[in-house]
Amino acid sequence: MIFDTHAHYDDDAFQEDREELLAGLNAAGIGTVVNVGASIASTKTTLELAERYPFIYAAAGVHPSETAELDEEKMKWLEEMCVRPKVVAVGEIGLDYHWDEPEREIQRRWFREQIRLALRVNLPIIVHSRDAAKDTLDIIKEEKAAEAGGVIHCFSYSVEVAREYLDMGFCLGVGGVLTFKNAKKLREVVAYMPLDRLLLETDCPYMAPVPHRGERNSSVYLPFVVKAVSEIKGIPEEEVIEATEANARRMYRLA
Ligand code: NI
Repeated sequence: MIFDTHAHYDDDAFQEDREELLAGLNAAGIGTVVNVGASIASTKTTLELAERYPFIYAAAGVHPSETAELDEEKMKWLEEMCVRPKVVAVGEIGLDYHWDEPEREIQRRWFREQIRLALRVNLPIIVHSRDAAKDTLDIIKEEKAAEAGGVIHCFSYSVEVAREYLDMGFCLGVGGVLTFKNAKKLREVVAYMPLDRLLLETDCPYMAPVPHRGERNSSVYLPFVVKAVSEIKGIPEEEVIEATEANARRMYRLA
């Protein structure tokens, strides 16, 4: 079954019909979901979802755009959350120079601190990197983040950058963007990369694939991404589903 490696079902966009939607995921072919924290508050709501639904796992972490809220005490709290049984990753963490707030020095500091946290608690990292290719790579190398492993989520860079991450053992997360008309660069990356490093993700409620582009996204739209991967790779859709599920289980260390 399809493994959605990156979702935000705690988002307000699901306030009206969250329970109904989540209850229907299995029937829609979605077997497992990792809900991803993006702040201290959303790490809390992510943990609540994971405690409530057997097929939902949690990532604990603070998104680069939210890092102004971090301090030593909150890092300590995050570390305590990381030992909970359903927490499978530290994330999402990284650098976002597109929105460019808070100032880059603050983003870099807490990216480093959260990588160190992942290494201490022995969890993989979920990396968010936007318009920050060089600094992200530099920090990942300096902090030896490859020892934690993980995924570069919503991968948006070139084949050259992809190669660097693949050489270090990282997975690349691919979602709705792959179906967009202007996604030539990402299609090249998917054609280039080995199938055993590819993870499916929604980043829902954002990034809905064509023909639902602009609508609220959810895991039930992932078959459109599966279809796009199968066409690029020239393999059956079932093979894409099975391989990406195995990849996700391996990366998140789920039996
Ligand atoms: Ni996300």
